[in-house]
Amino acid sequence: MVSSLRGALDKIVDRPVGAVRNRLSLVVPRSAARRWFKVWDTHRGWKVPRDAAGSTFWPEKLWFLPFLLPEICVMKPHREHVLRANRASYDAMAAAGNPLCRPARPEELSDPLKTVDAAGWLGDSISGWDVLCLAAGGGRQSLLYAAAGARVTVVDLSPGMLELDRQVATQYGHDFRLLETSMDDLSGLDAGEFDLVIHPVSTCYLPGVAGVFGEVARVLRPGGLYVSQHKTPTSLQATTDRTEGGHYEIRDRYYRDEPISAPEKKNSTTRRLRESGAVEFLHRWEELIGGMCRAGFVIEDLVEPMHADGTVMAGTFADRAGYIAPYVRIKARRVPGQAPETRSRTLWLP
Ligand SMILES: C[S@@+](CC[C@H](N)C(=O)[O-])C[C@H]1O[C@@H](n2cnc3c(N)ncnc32)[C@H](O)[C@@H]1O
Repeated sequence: MVSSLRGALDKIVDRPVGAVRNRLSLVVPRSAARRWFKVWDTHRGWKVPRDAAGSTFWPEKLWFLPFLLPEICVMKPHREHVLRANRASYDAMAAAGNPLCRPARPEELSDPLKTVDAAGWLGDSISGWDVLCLAAGGGRQSLLYAAAGARVTVVDLSPGMLELDRQVATQYGHDFRLLETSMDDLSGLDAGEFDLVIHPVSTCYLPGVAGVFGEVARVLRPGGLYVSQHKTPTSLQATTDRTEGGHYEIRDRYYRDEPISAPEKKNSTTRRLRESGAVEFLHRWEELIGGMCRAGFVIEDLVEPMHADGTVMAGTFADRAGYIAPYVRIKARRVPGQAPETRSRTLWLP
């Protein structure tokens, strides 16, 4: 009886405790987090910790307080901590000349629209369009869209990435508007300012995407286009390398609030799949596709950019891409006049 009660209680508390543990590890040194959870584990064995003299450290009836406190303290700064970590990660990558942080090459500028839009989603010309390059600092997107004739605004969290846009603007004589903010806070931009929002892979750097889609819907003109790319949920869930059995395996839960676990190894494959020092989150399909629809978009097309190569060595990025599509690219259009719906609904199907 006692042991089944213990088992039931452990099941109920395990999930929140796992979430707290993850959150805690983001804001306090791991050694401190370990100390906290050593106390928790002691509690799980139903031994209330005692000092050398045999007194308990806290009144037995209040044993849960220390476990609640970190949750209360950590909930609020969580988003800020994530932003800080991801800003630092991209600042460091920009300073190191990481491939994700390189401006467009001169040869890509000869037909810039083709470079950015191989699928032809944007039509024959975007000359004169107001384009928001969202979470797209680094001097690549801004330069290409400006070369295609657009008026360009760049939003990015990382000053290091925006500095690269500043440099290419000076070098090529463009006039970009640069805004340092998080993609889910576009309060510095007016409603209905843009014909097109392009959004390279970056939603993974925020715990939630609904706020981003709401902001994009607000700053787009009715009928405007939203072209975004995302890491696929399966790619974030799976091992980055083949396991001993030779398989890529699902490692992380699909339904989760906490960040994705760090890669098992550091090598050229993991460097393509995860950014060093960044905190990344999985967004489920219903959050990506359903989230866009609920924010007032219709999905017009969806592609999985091809990165697979069956001839390469096992464990490489292109080998893994043969099993798991790393990215998805979505073309969505802001429905004219449609009020964004904020609540999800459950459909009853017979
Ligand atoms: C994969 S890079 C995209 C830019 C890349 N140069 C390109 O052209 O595809 C992701 C970008 O997202 C930015 N970022 C990360 N978290 C962000 C956030 N919360 N809000 C805005 N930008 C963010 C990073 O600073 C980085 O510049």
